[in-house]
Amino acid sequence: MSFQRLRGTKDIFGSEADLFQHIDSTARQVFHLFGFEELRTPIFEEKKLFTRALGAETDVVQKEMYEFLDRSKTEVALRPEGTAGVVRAYLENNLDKTKGHCKFYYTGPMFRSERPQAGRLRQFHQIGVEELGTDSPYADAEIIHCLTFFLERCGAGGFQLKINNLGTLEERGKFEKILYAFFKPHEKSLCEDCQKRLSKNIFRVLDCKLESCRKVIQISPVISDSLSPESRDHFSRVCESLEKMGVSYRLAPHLVRGLDYYTKTVFEISHPDLGAQDALAAGGRYDGLVETFGGPRTGAVGFAVGVERLVLCISKMKEAVAWQDCVFIATLGEAAFQKGFELLSKLRGEDVPCVMDFQSKSLKSQMRAADKAKSRIVIILGDEELQEQKFVLKDMQTGAQEKCALTEIVPTLRRRFAC
Ligand code: HAM
Repeated sequence: MSFQRLRGTKDIFGSEADLFQHIDSTARQVFHLFGFEELRTPIFEEKKLFTRALGAETDVVQKEMYEFLDRSKTEVALRPEGTAGVVRAYLENNLDKTKGHCKFYYTGPMFRSERPQAGRLRQFHQIGVEELGTDSPYADAEIIHCLTFFLERCGAGGFQLKINNLGTLEERGKFEKILYAFFKPHEKSLCEDCQKRLSKNIFRVLDCKLESCRKVIQISPVISDSLSPESRDHFSRVCESLEKMGVSYRLAPHLVRGLDYYTKTVFEISHPDLGAQDALAAGGRYDGLVETFGGPRTGAVGFAVGVERLVLCISKMKEAVAWQDCVFIATLGEAAFQKGFELLSKLRGEDVPCVMDFQSKSLKSQMRAADKAKSRIVIILGDEELQEQKFVLKDMQTGAQEKCALTEIVPTLRRRFAC
């Protein structure tokens, strides 16, 4: 009997797993710099948490959630995104009362039953941040800066940031009527899905990618013309702050998001290396969500990055520098083998990562194994070296070779790896 992984899922190993680790550690460093702390929420929650938060008419809730009845007949869903769980945790742990203002980050798998393609999976990973308990436009700007800073630190420069202002929930409600009045006479020019969206979730029409719909969307009214002075002021402060922080952006007056909770600032980052699924990260303000879950009126803003998509953006760059900070011990002859084996535990005890190939006999095949393992340093030990109490150190990156004293092995390697 043989098994295969399910469609839209992935096994992550080798250089891809290295990139996941690189992204994860960069995220932790950057989020620490910005004052965020980690929050881990369960990967499954009550289904109605997501229906309520994301909107019953969104594609995610209508078509994409992995949902089931558990053994106690509770309706459960695998989380399709992280924001809803964070807001639940904020309220359930009384953080609204004890702390008020919280800055969280999270990493982990999310689940959406979408049609799989490059960069679109059914189990994918997100890294996200959520800041709750703030109405300040500077928080929006700081969150966006945090995102662009993180992407640059990961080595995924060259992205494009688009932003828009959706106004308050009330303003959005009024604008829906204006949109309806505009789109209704154009109904026949819209695709079948958008015709349905007209009555169910008219904002989603603005997100349609079909050329025929885009033609109508391009001439549709923009929300910024219907916003209150407060909402406009909030957004202009966000834009001014981004400029001060040197974050380049493009105003996208028709930009909407696929989830219903957004208010005021929304943003999306696309990357030219991603092809059709070019959204690398997205987020915005969601001032009504805490209240929707029974809490007090609370301003909040956040973003999430798709990790698999981020890997696609940085893998090309990383391939060239895939050497690992690891020592490969290659030996010739039984005495040298025994000495090498002894060194393994000594070096590991000193926090120097090292490996040995117990199968290969010839030096040539051991060097091939070292190259395959991408070990940056190879230590070569033979009878001659043992007699001299020395070892040969080969830097695989530069090809340079030198003889060093065995008594100095730990400081020599530490200097190489700066550990
Ligand atoms: P989202 O736009 O639905 O937002 O997803 C954020 C990112 O997750 C996308 O830009 C994309 O990179 C990645 N992503 C989404 N679906 C898939 C998929 N099927 N396969 C691979 N990657 C995917 C949210 O989830 C919001 N919770 C973001 C947020 C946080 N807003 C406020 N706070």
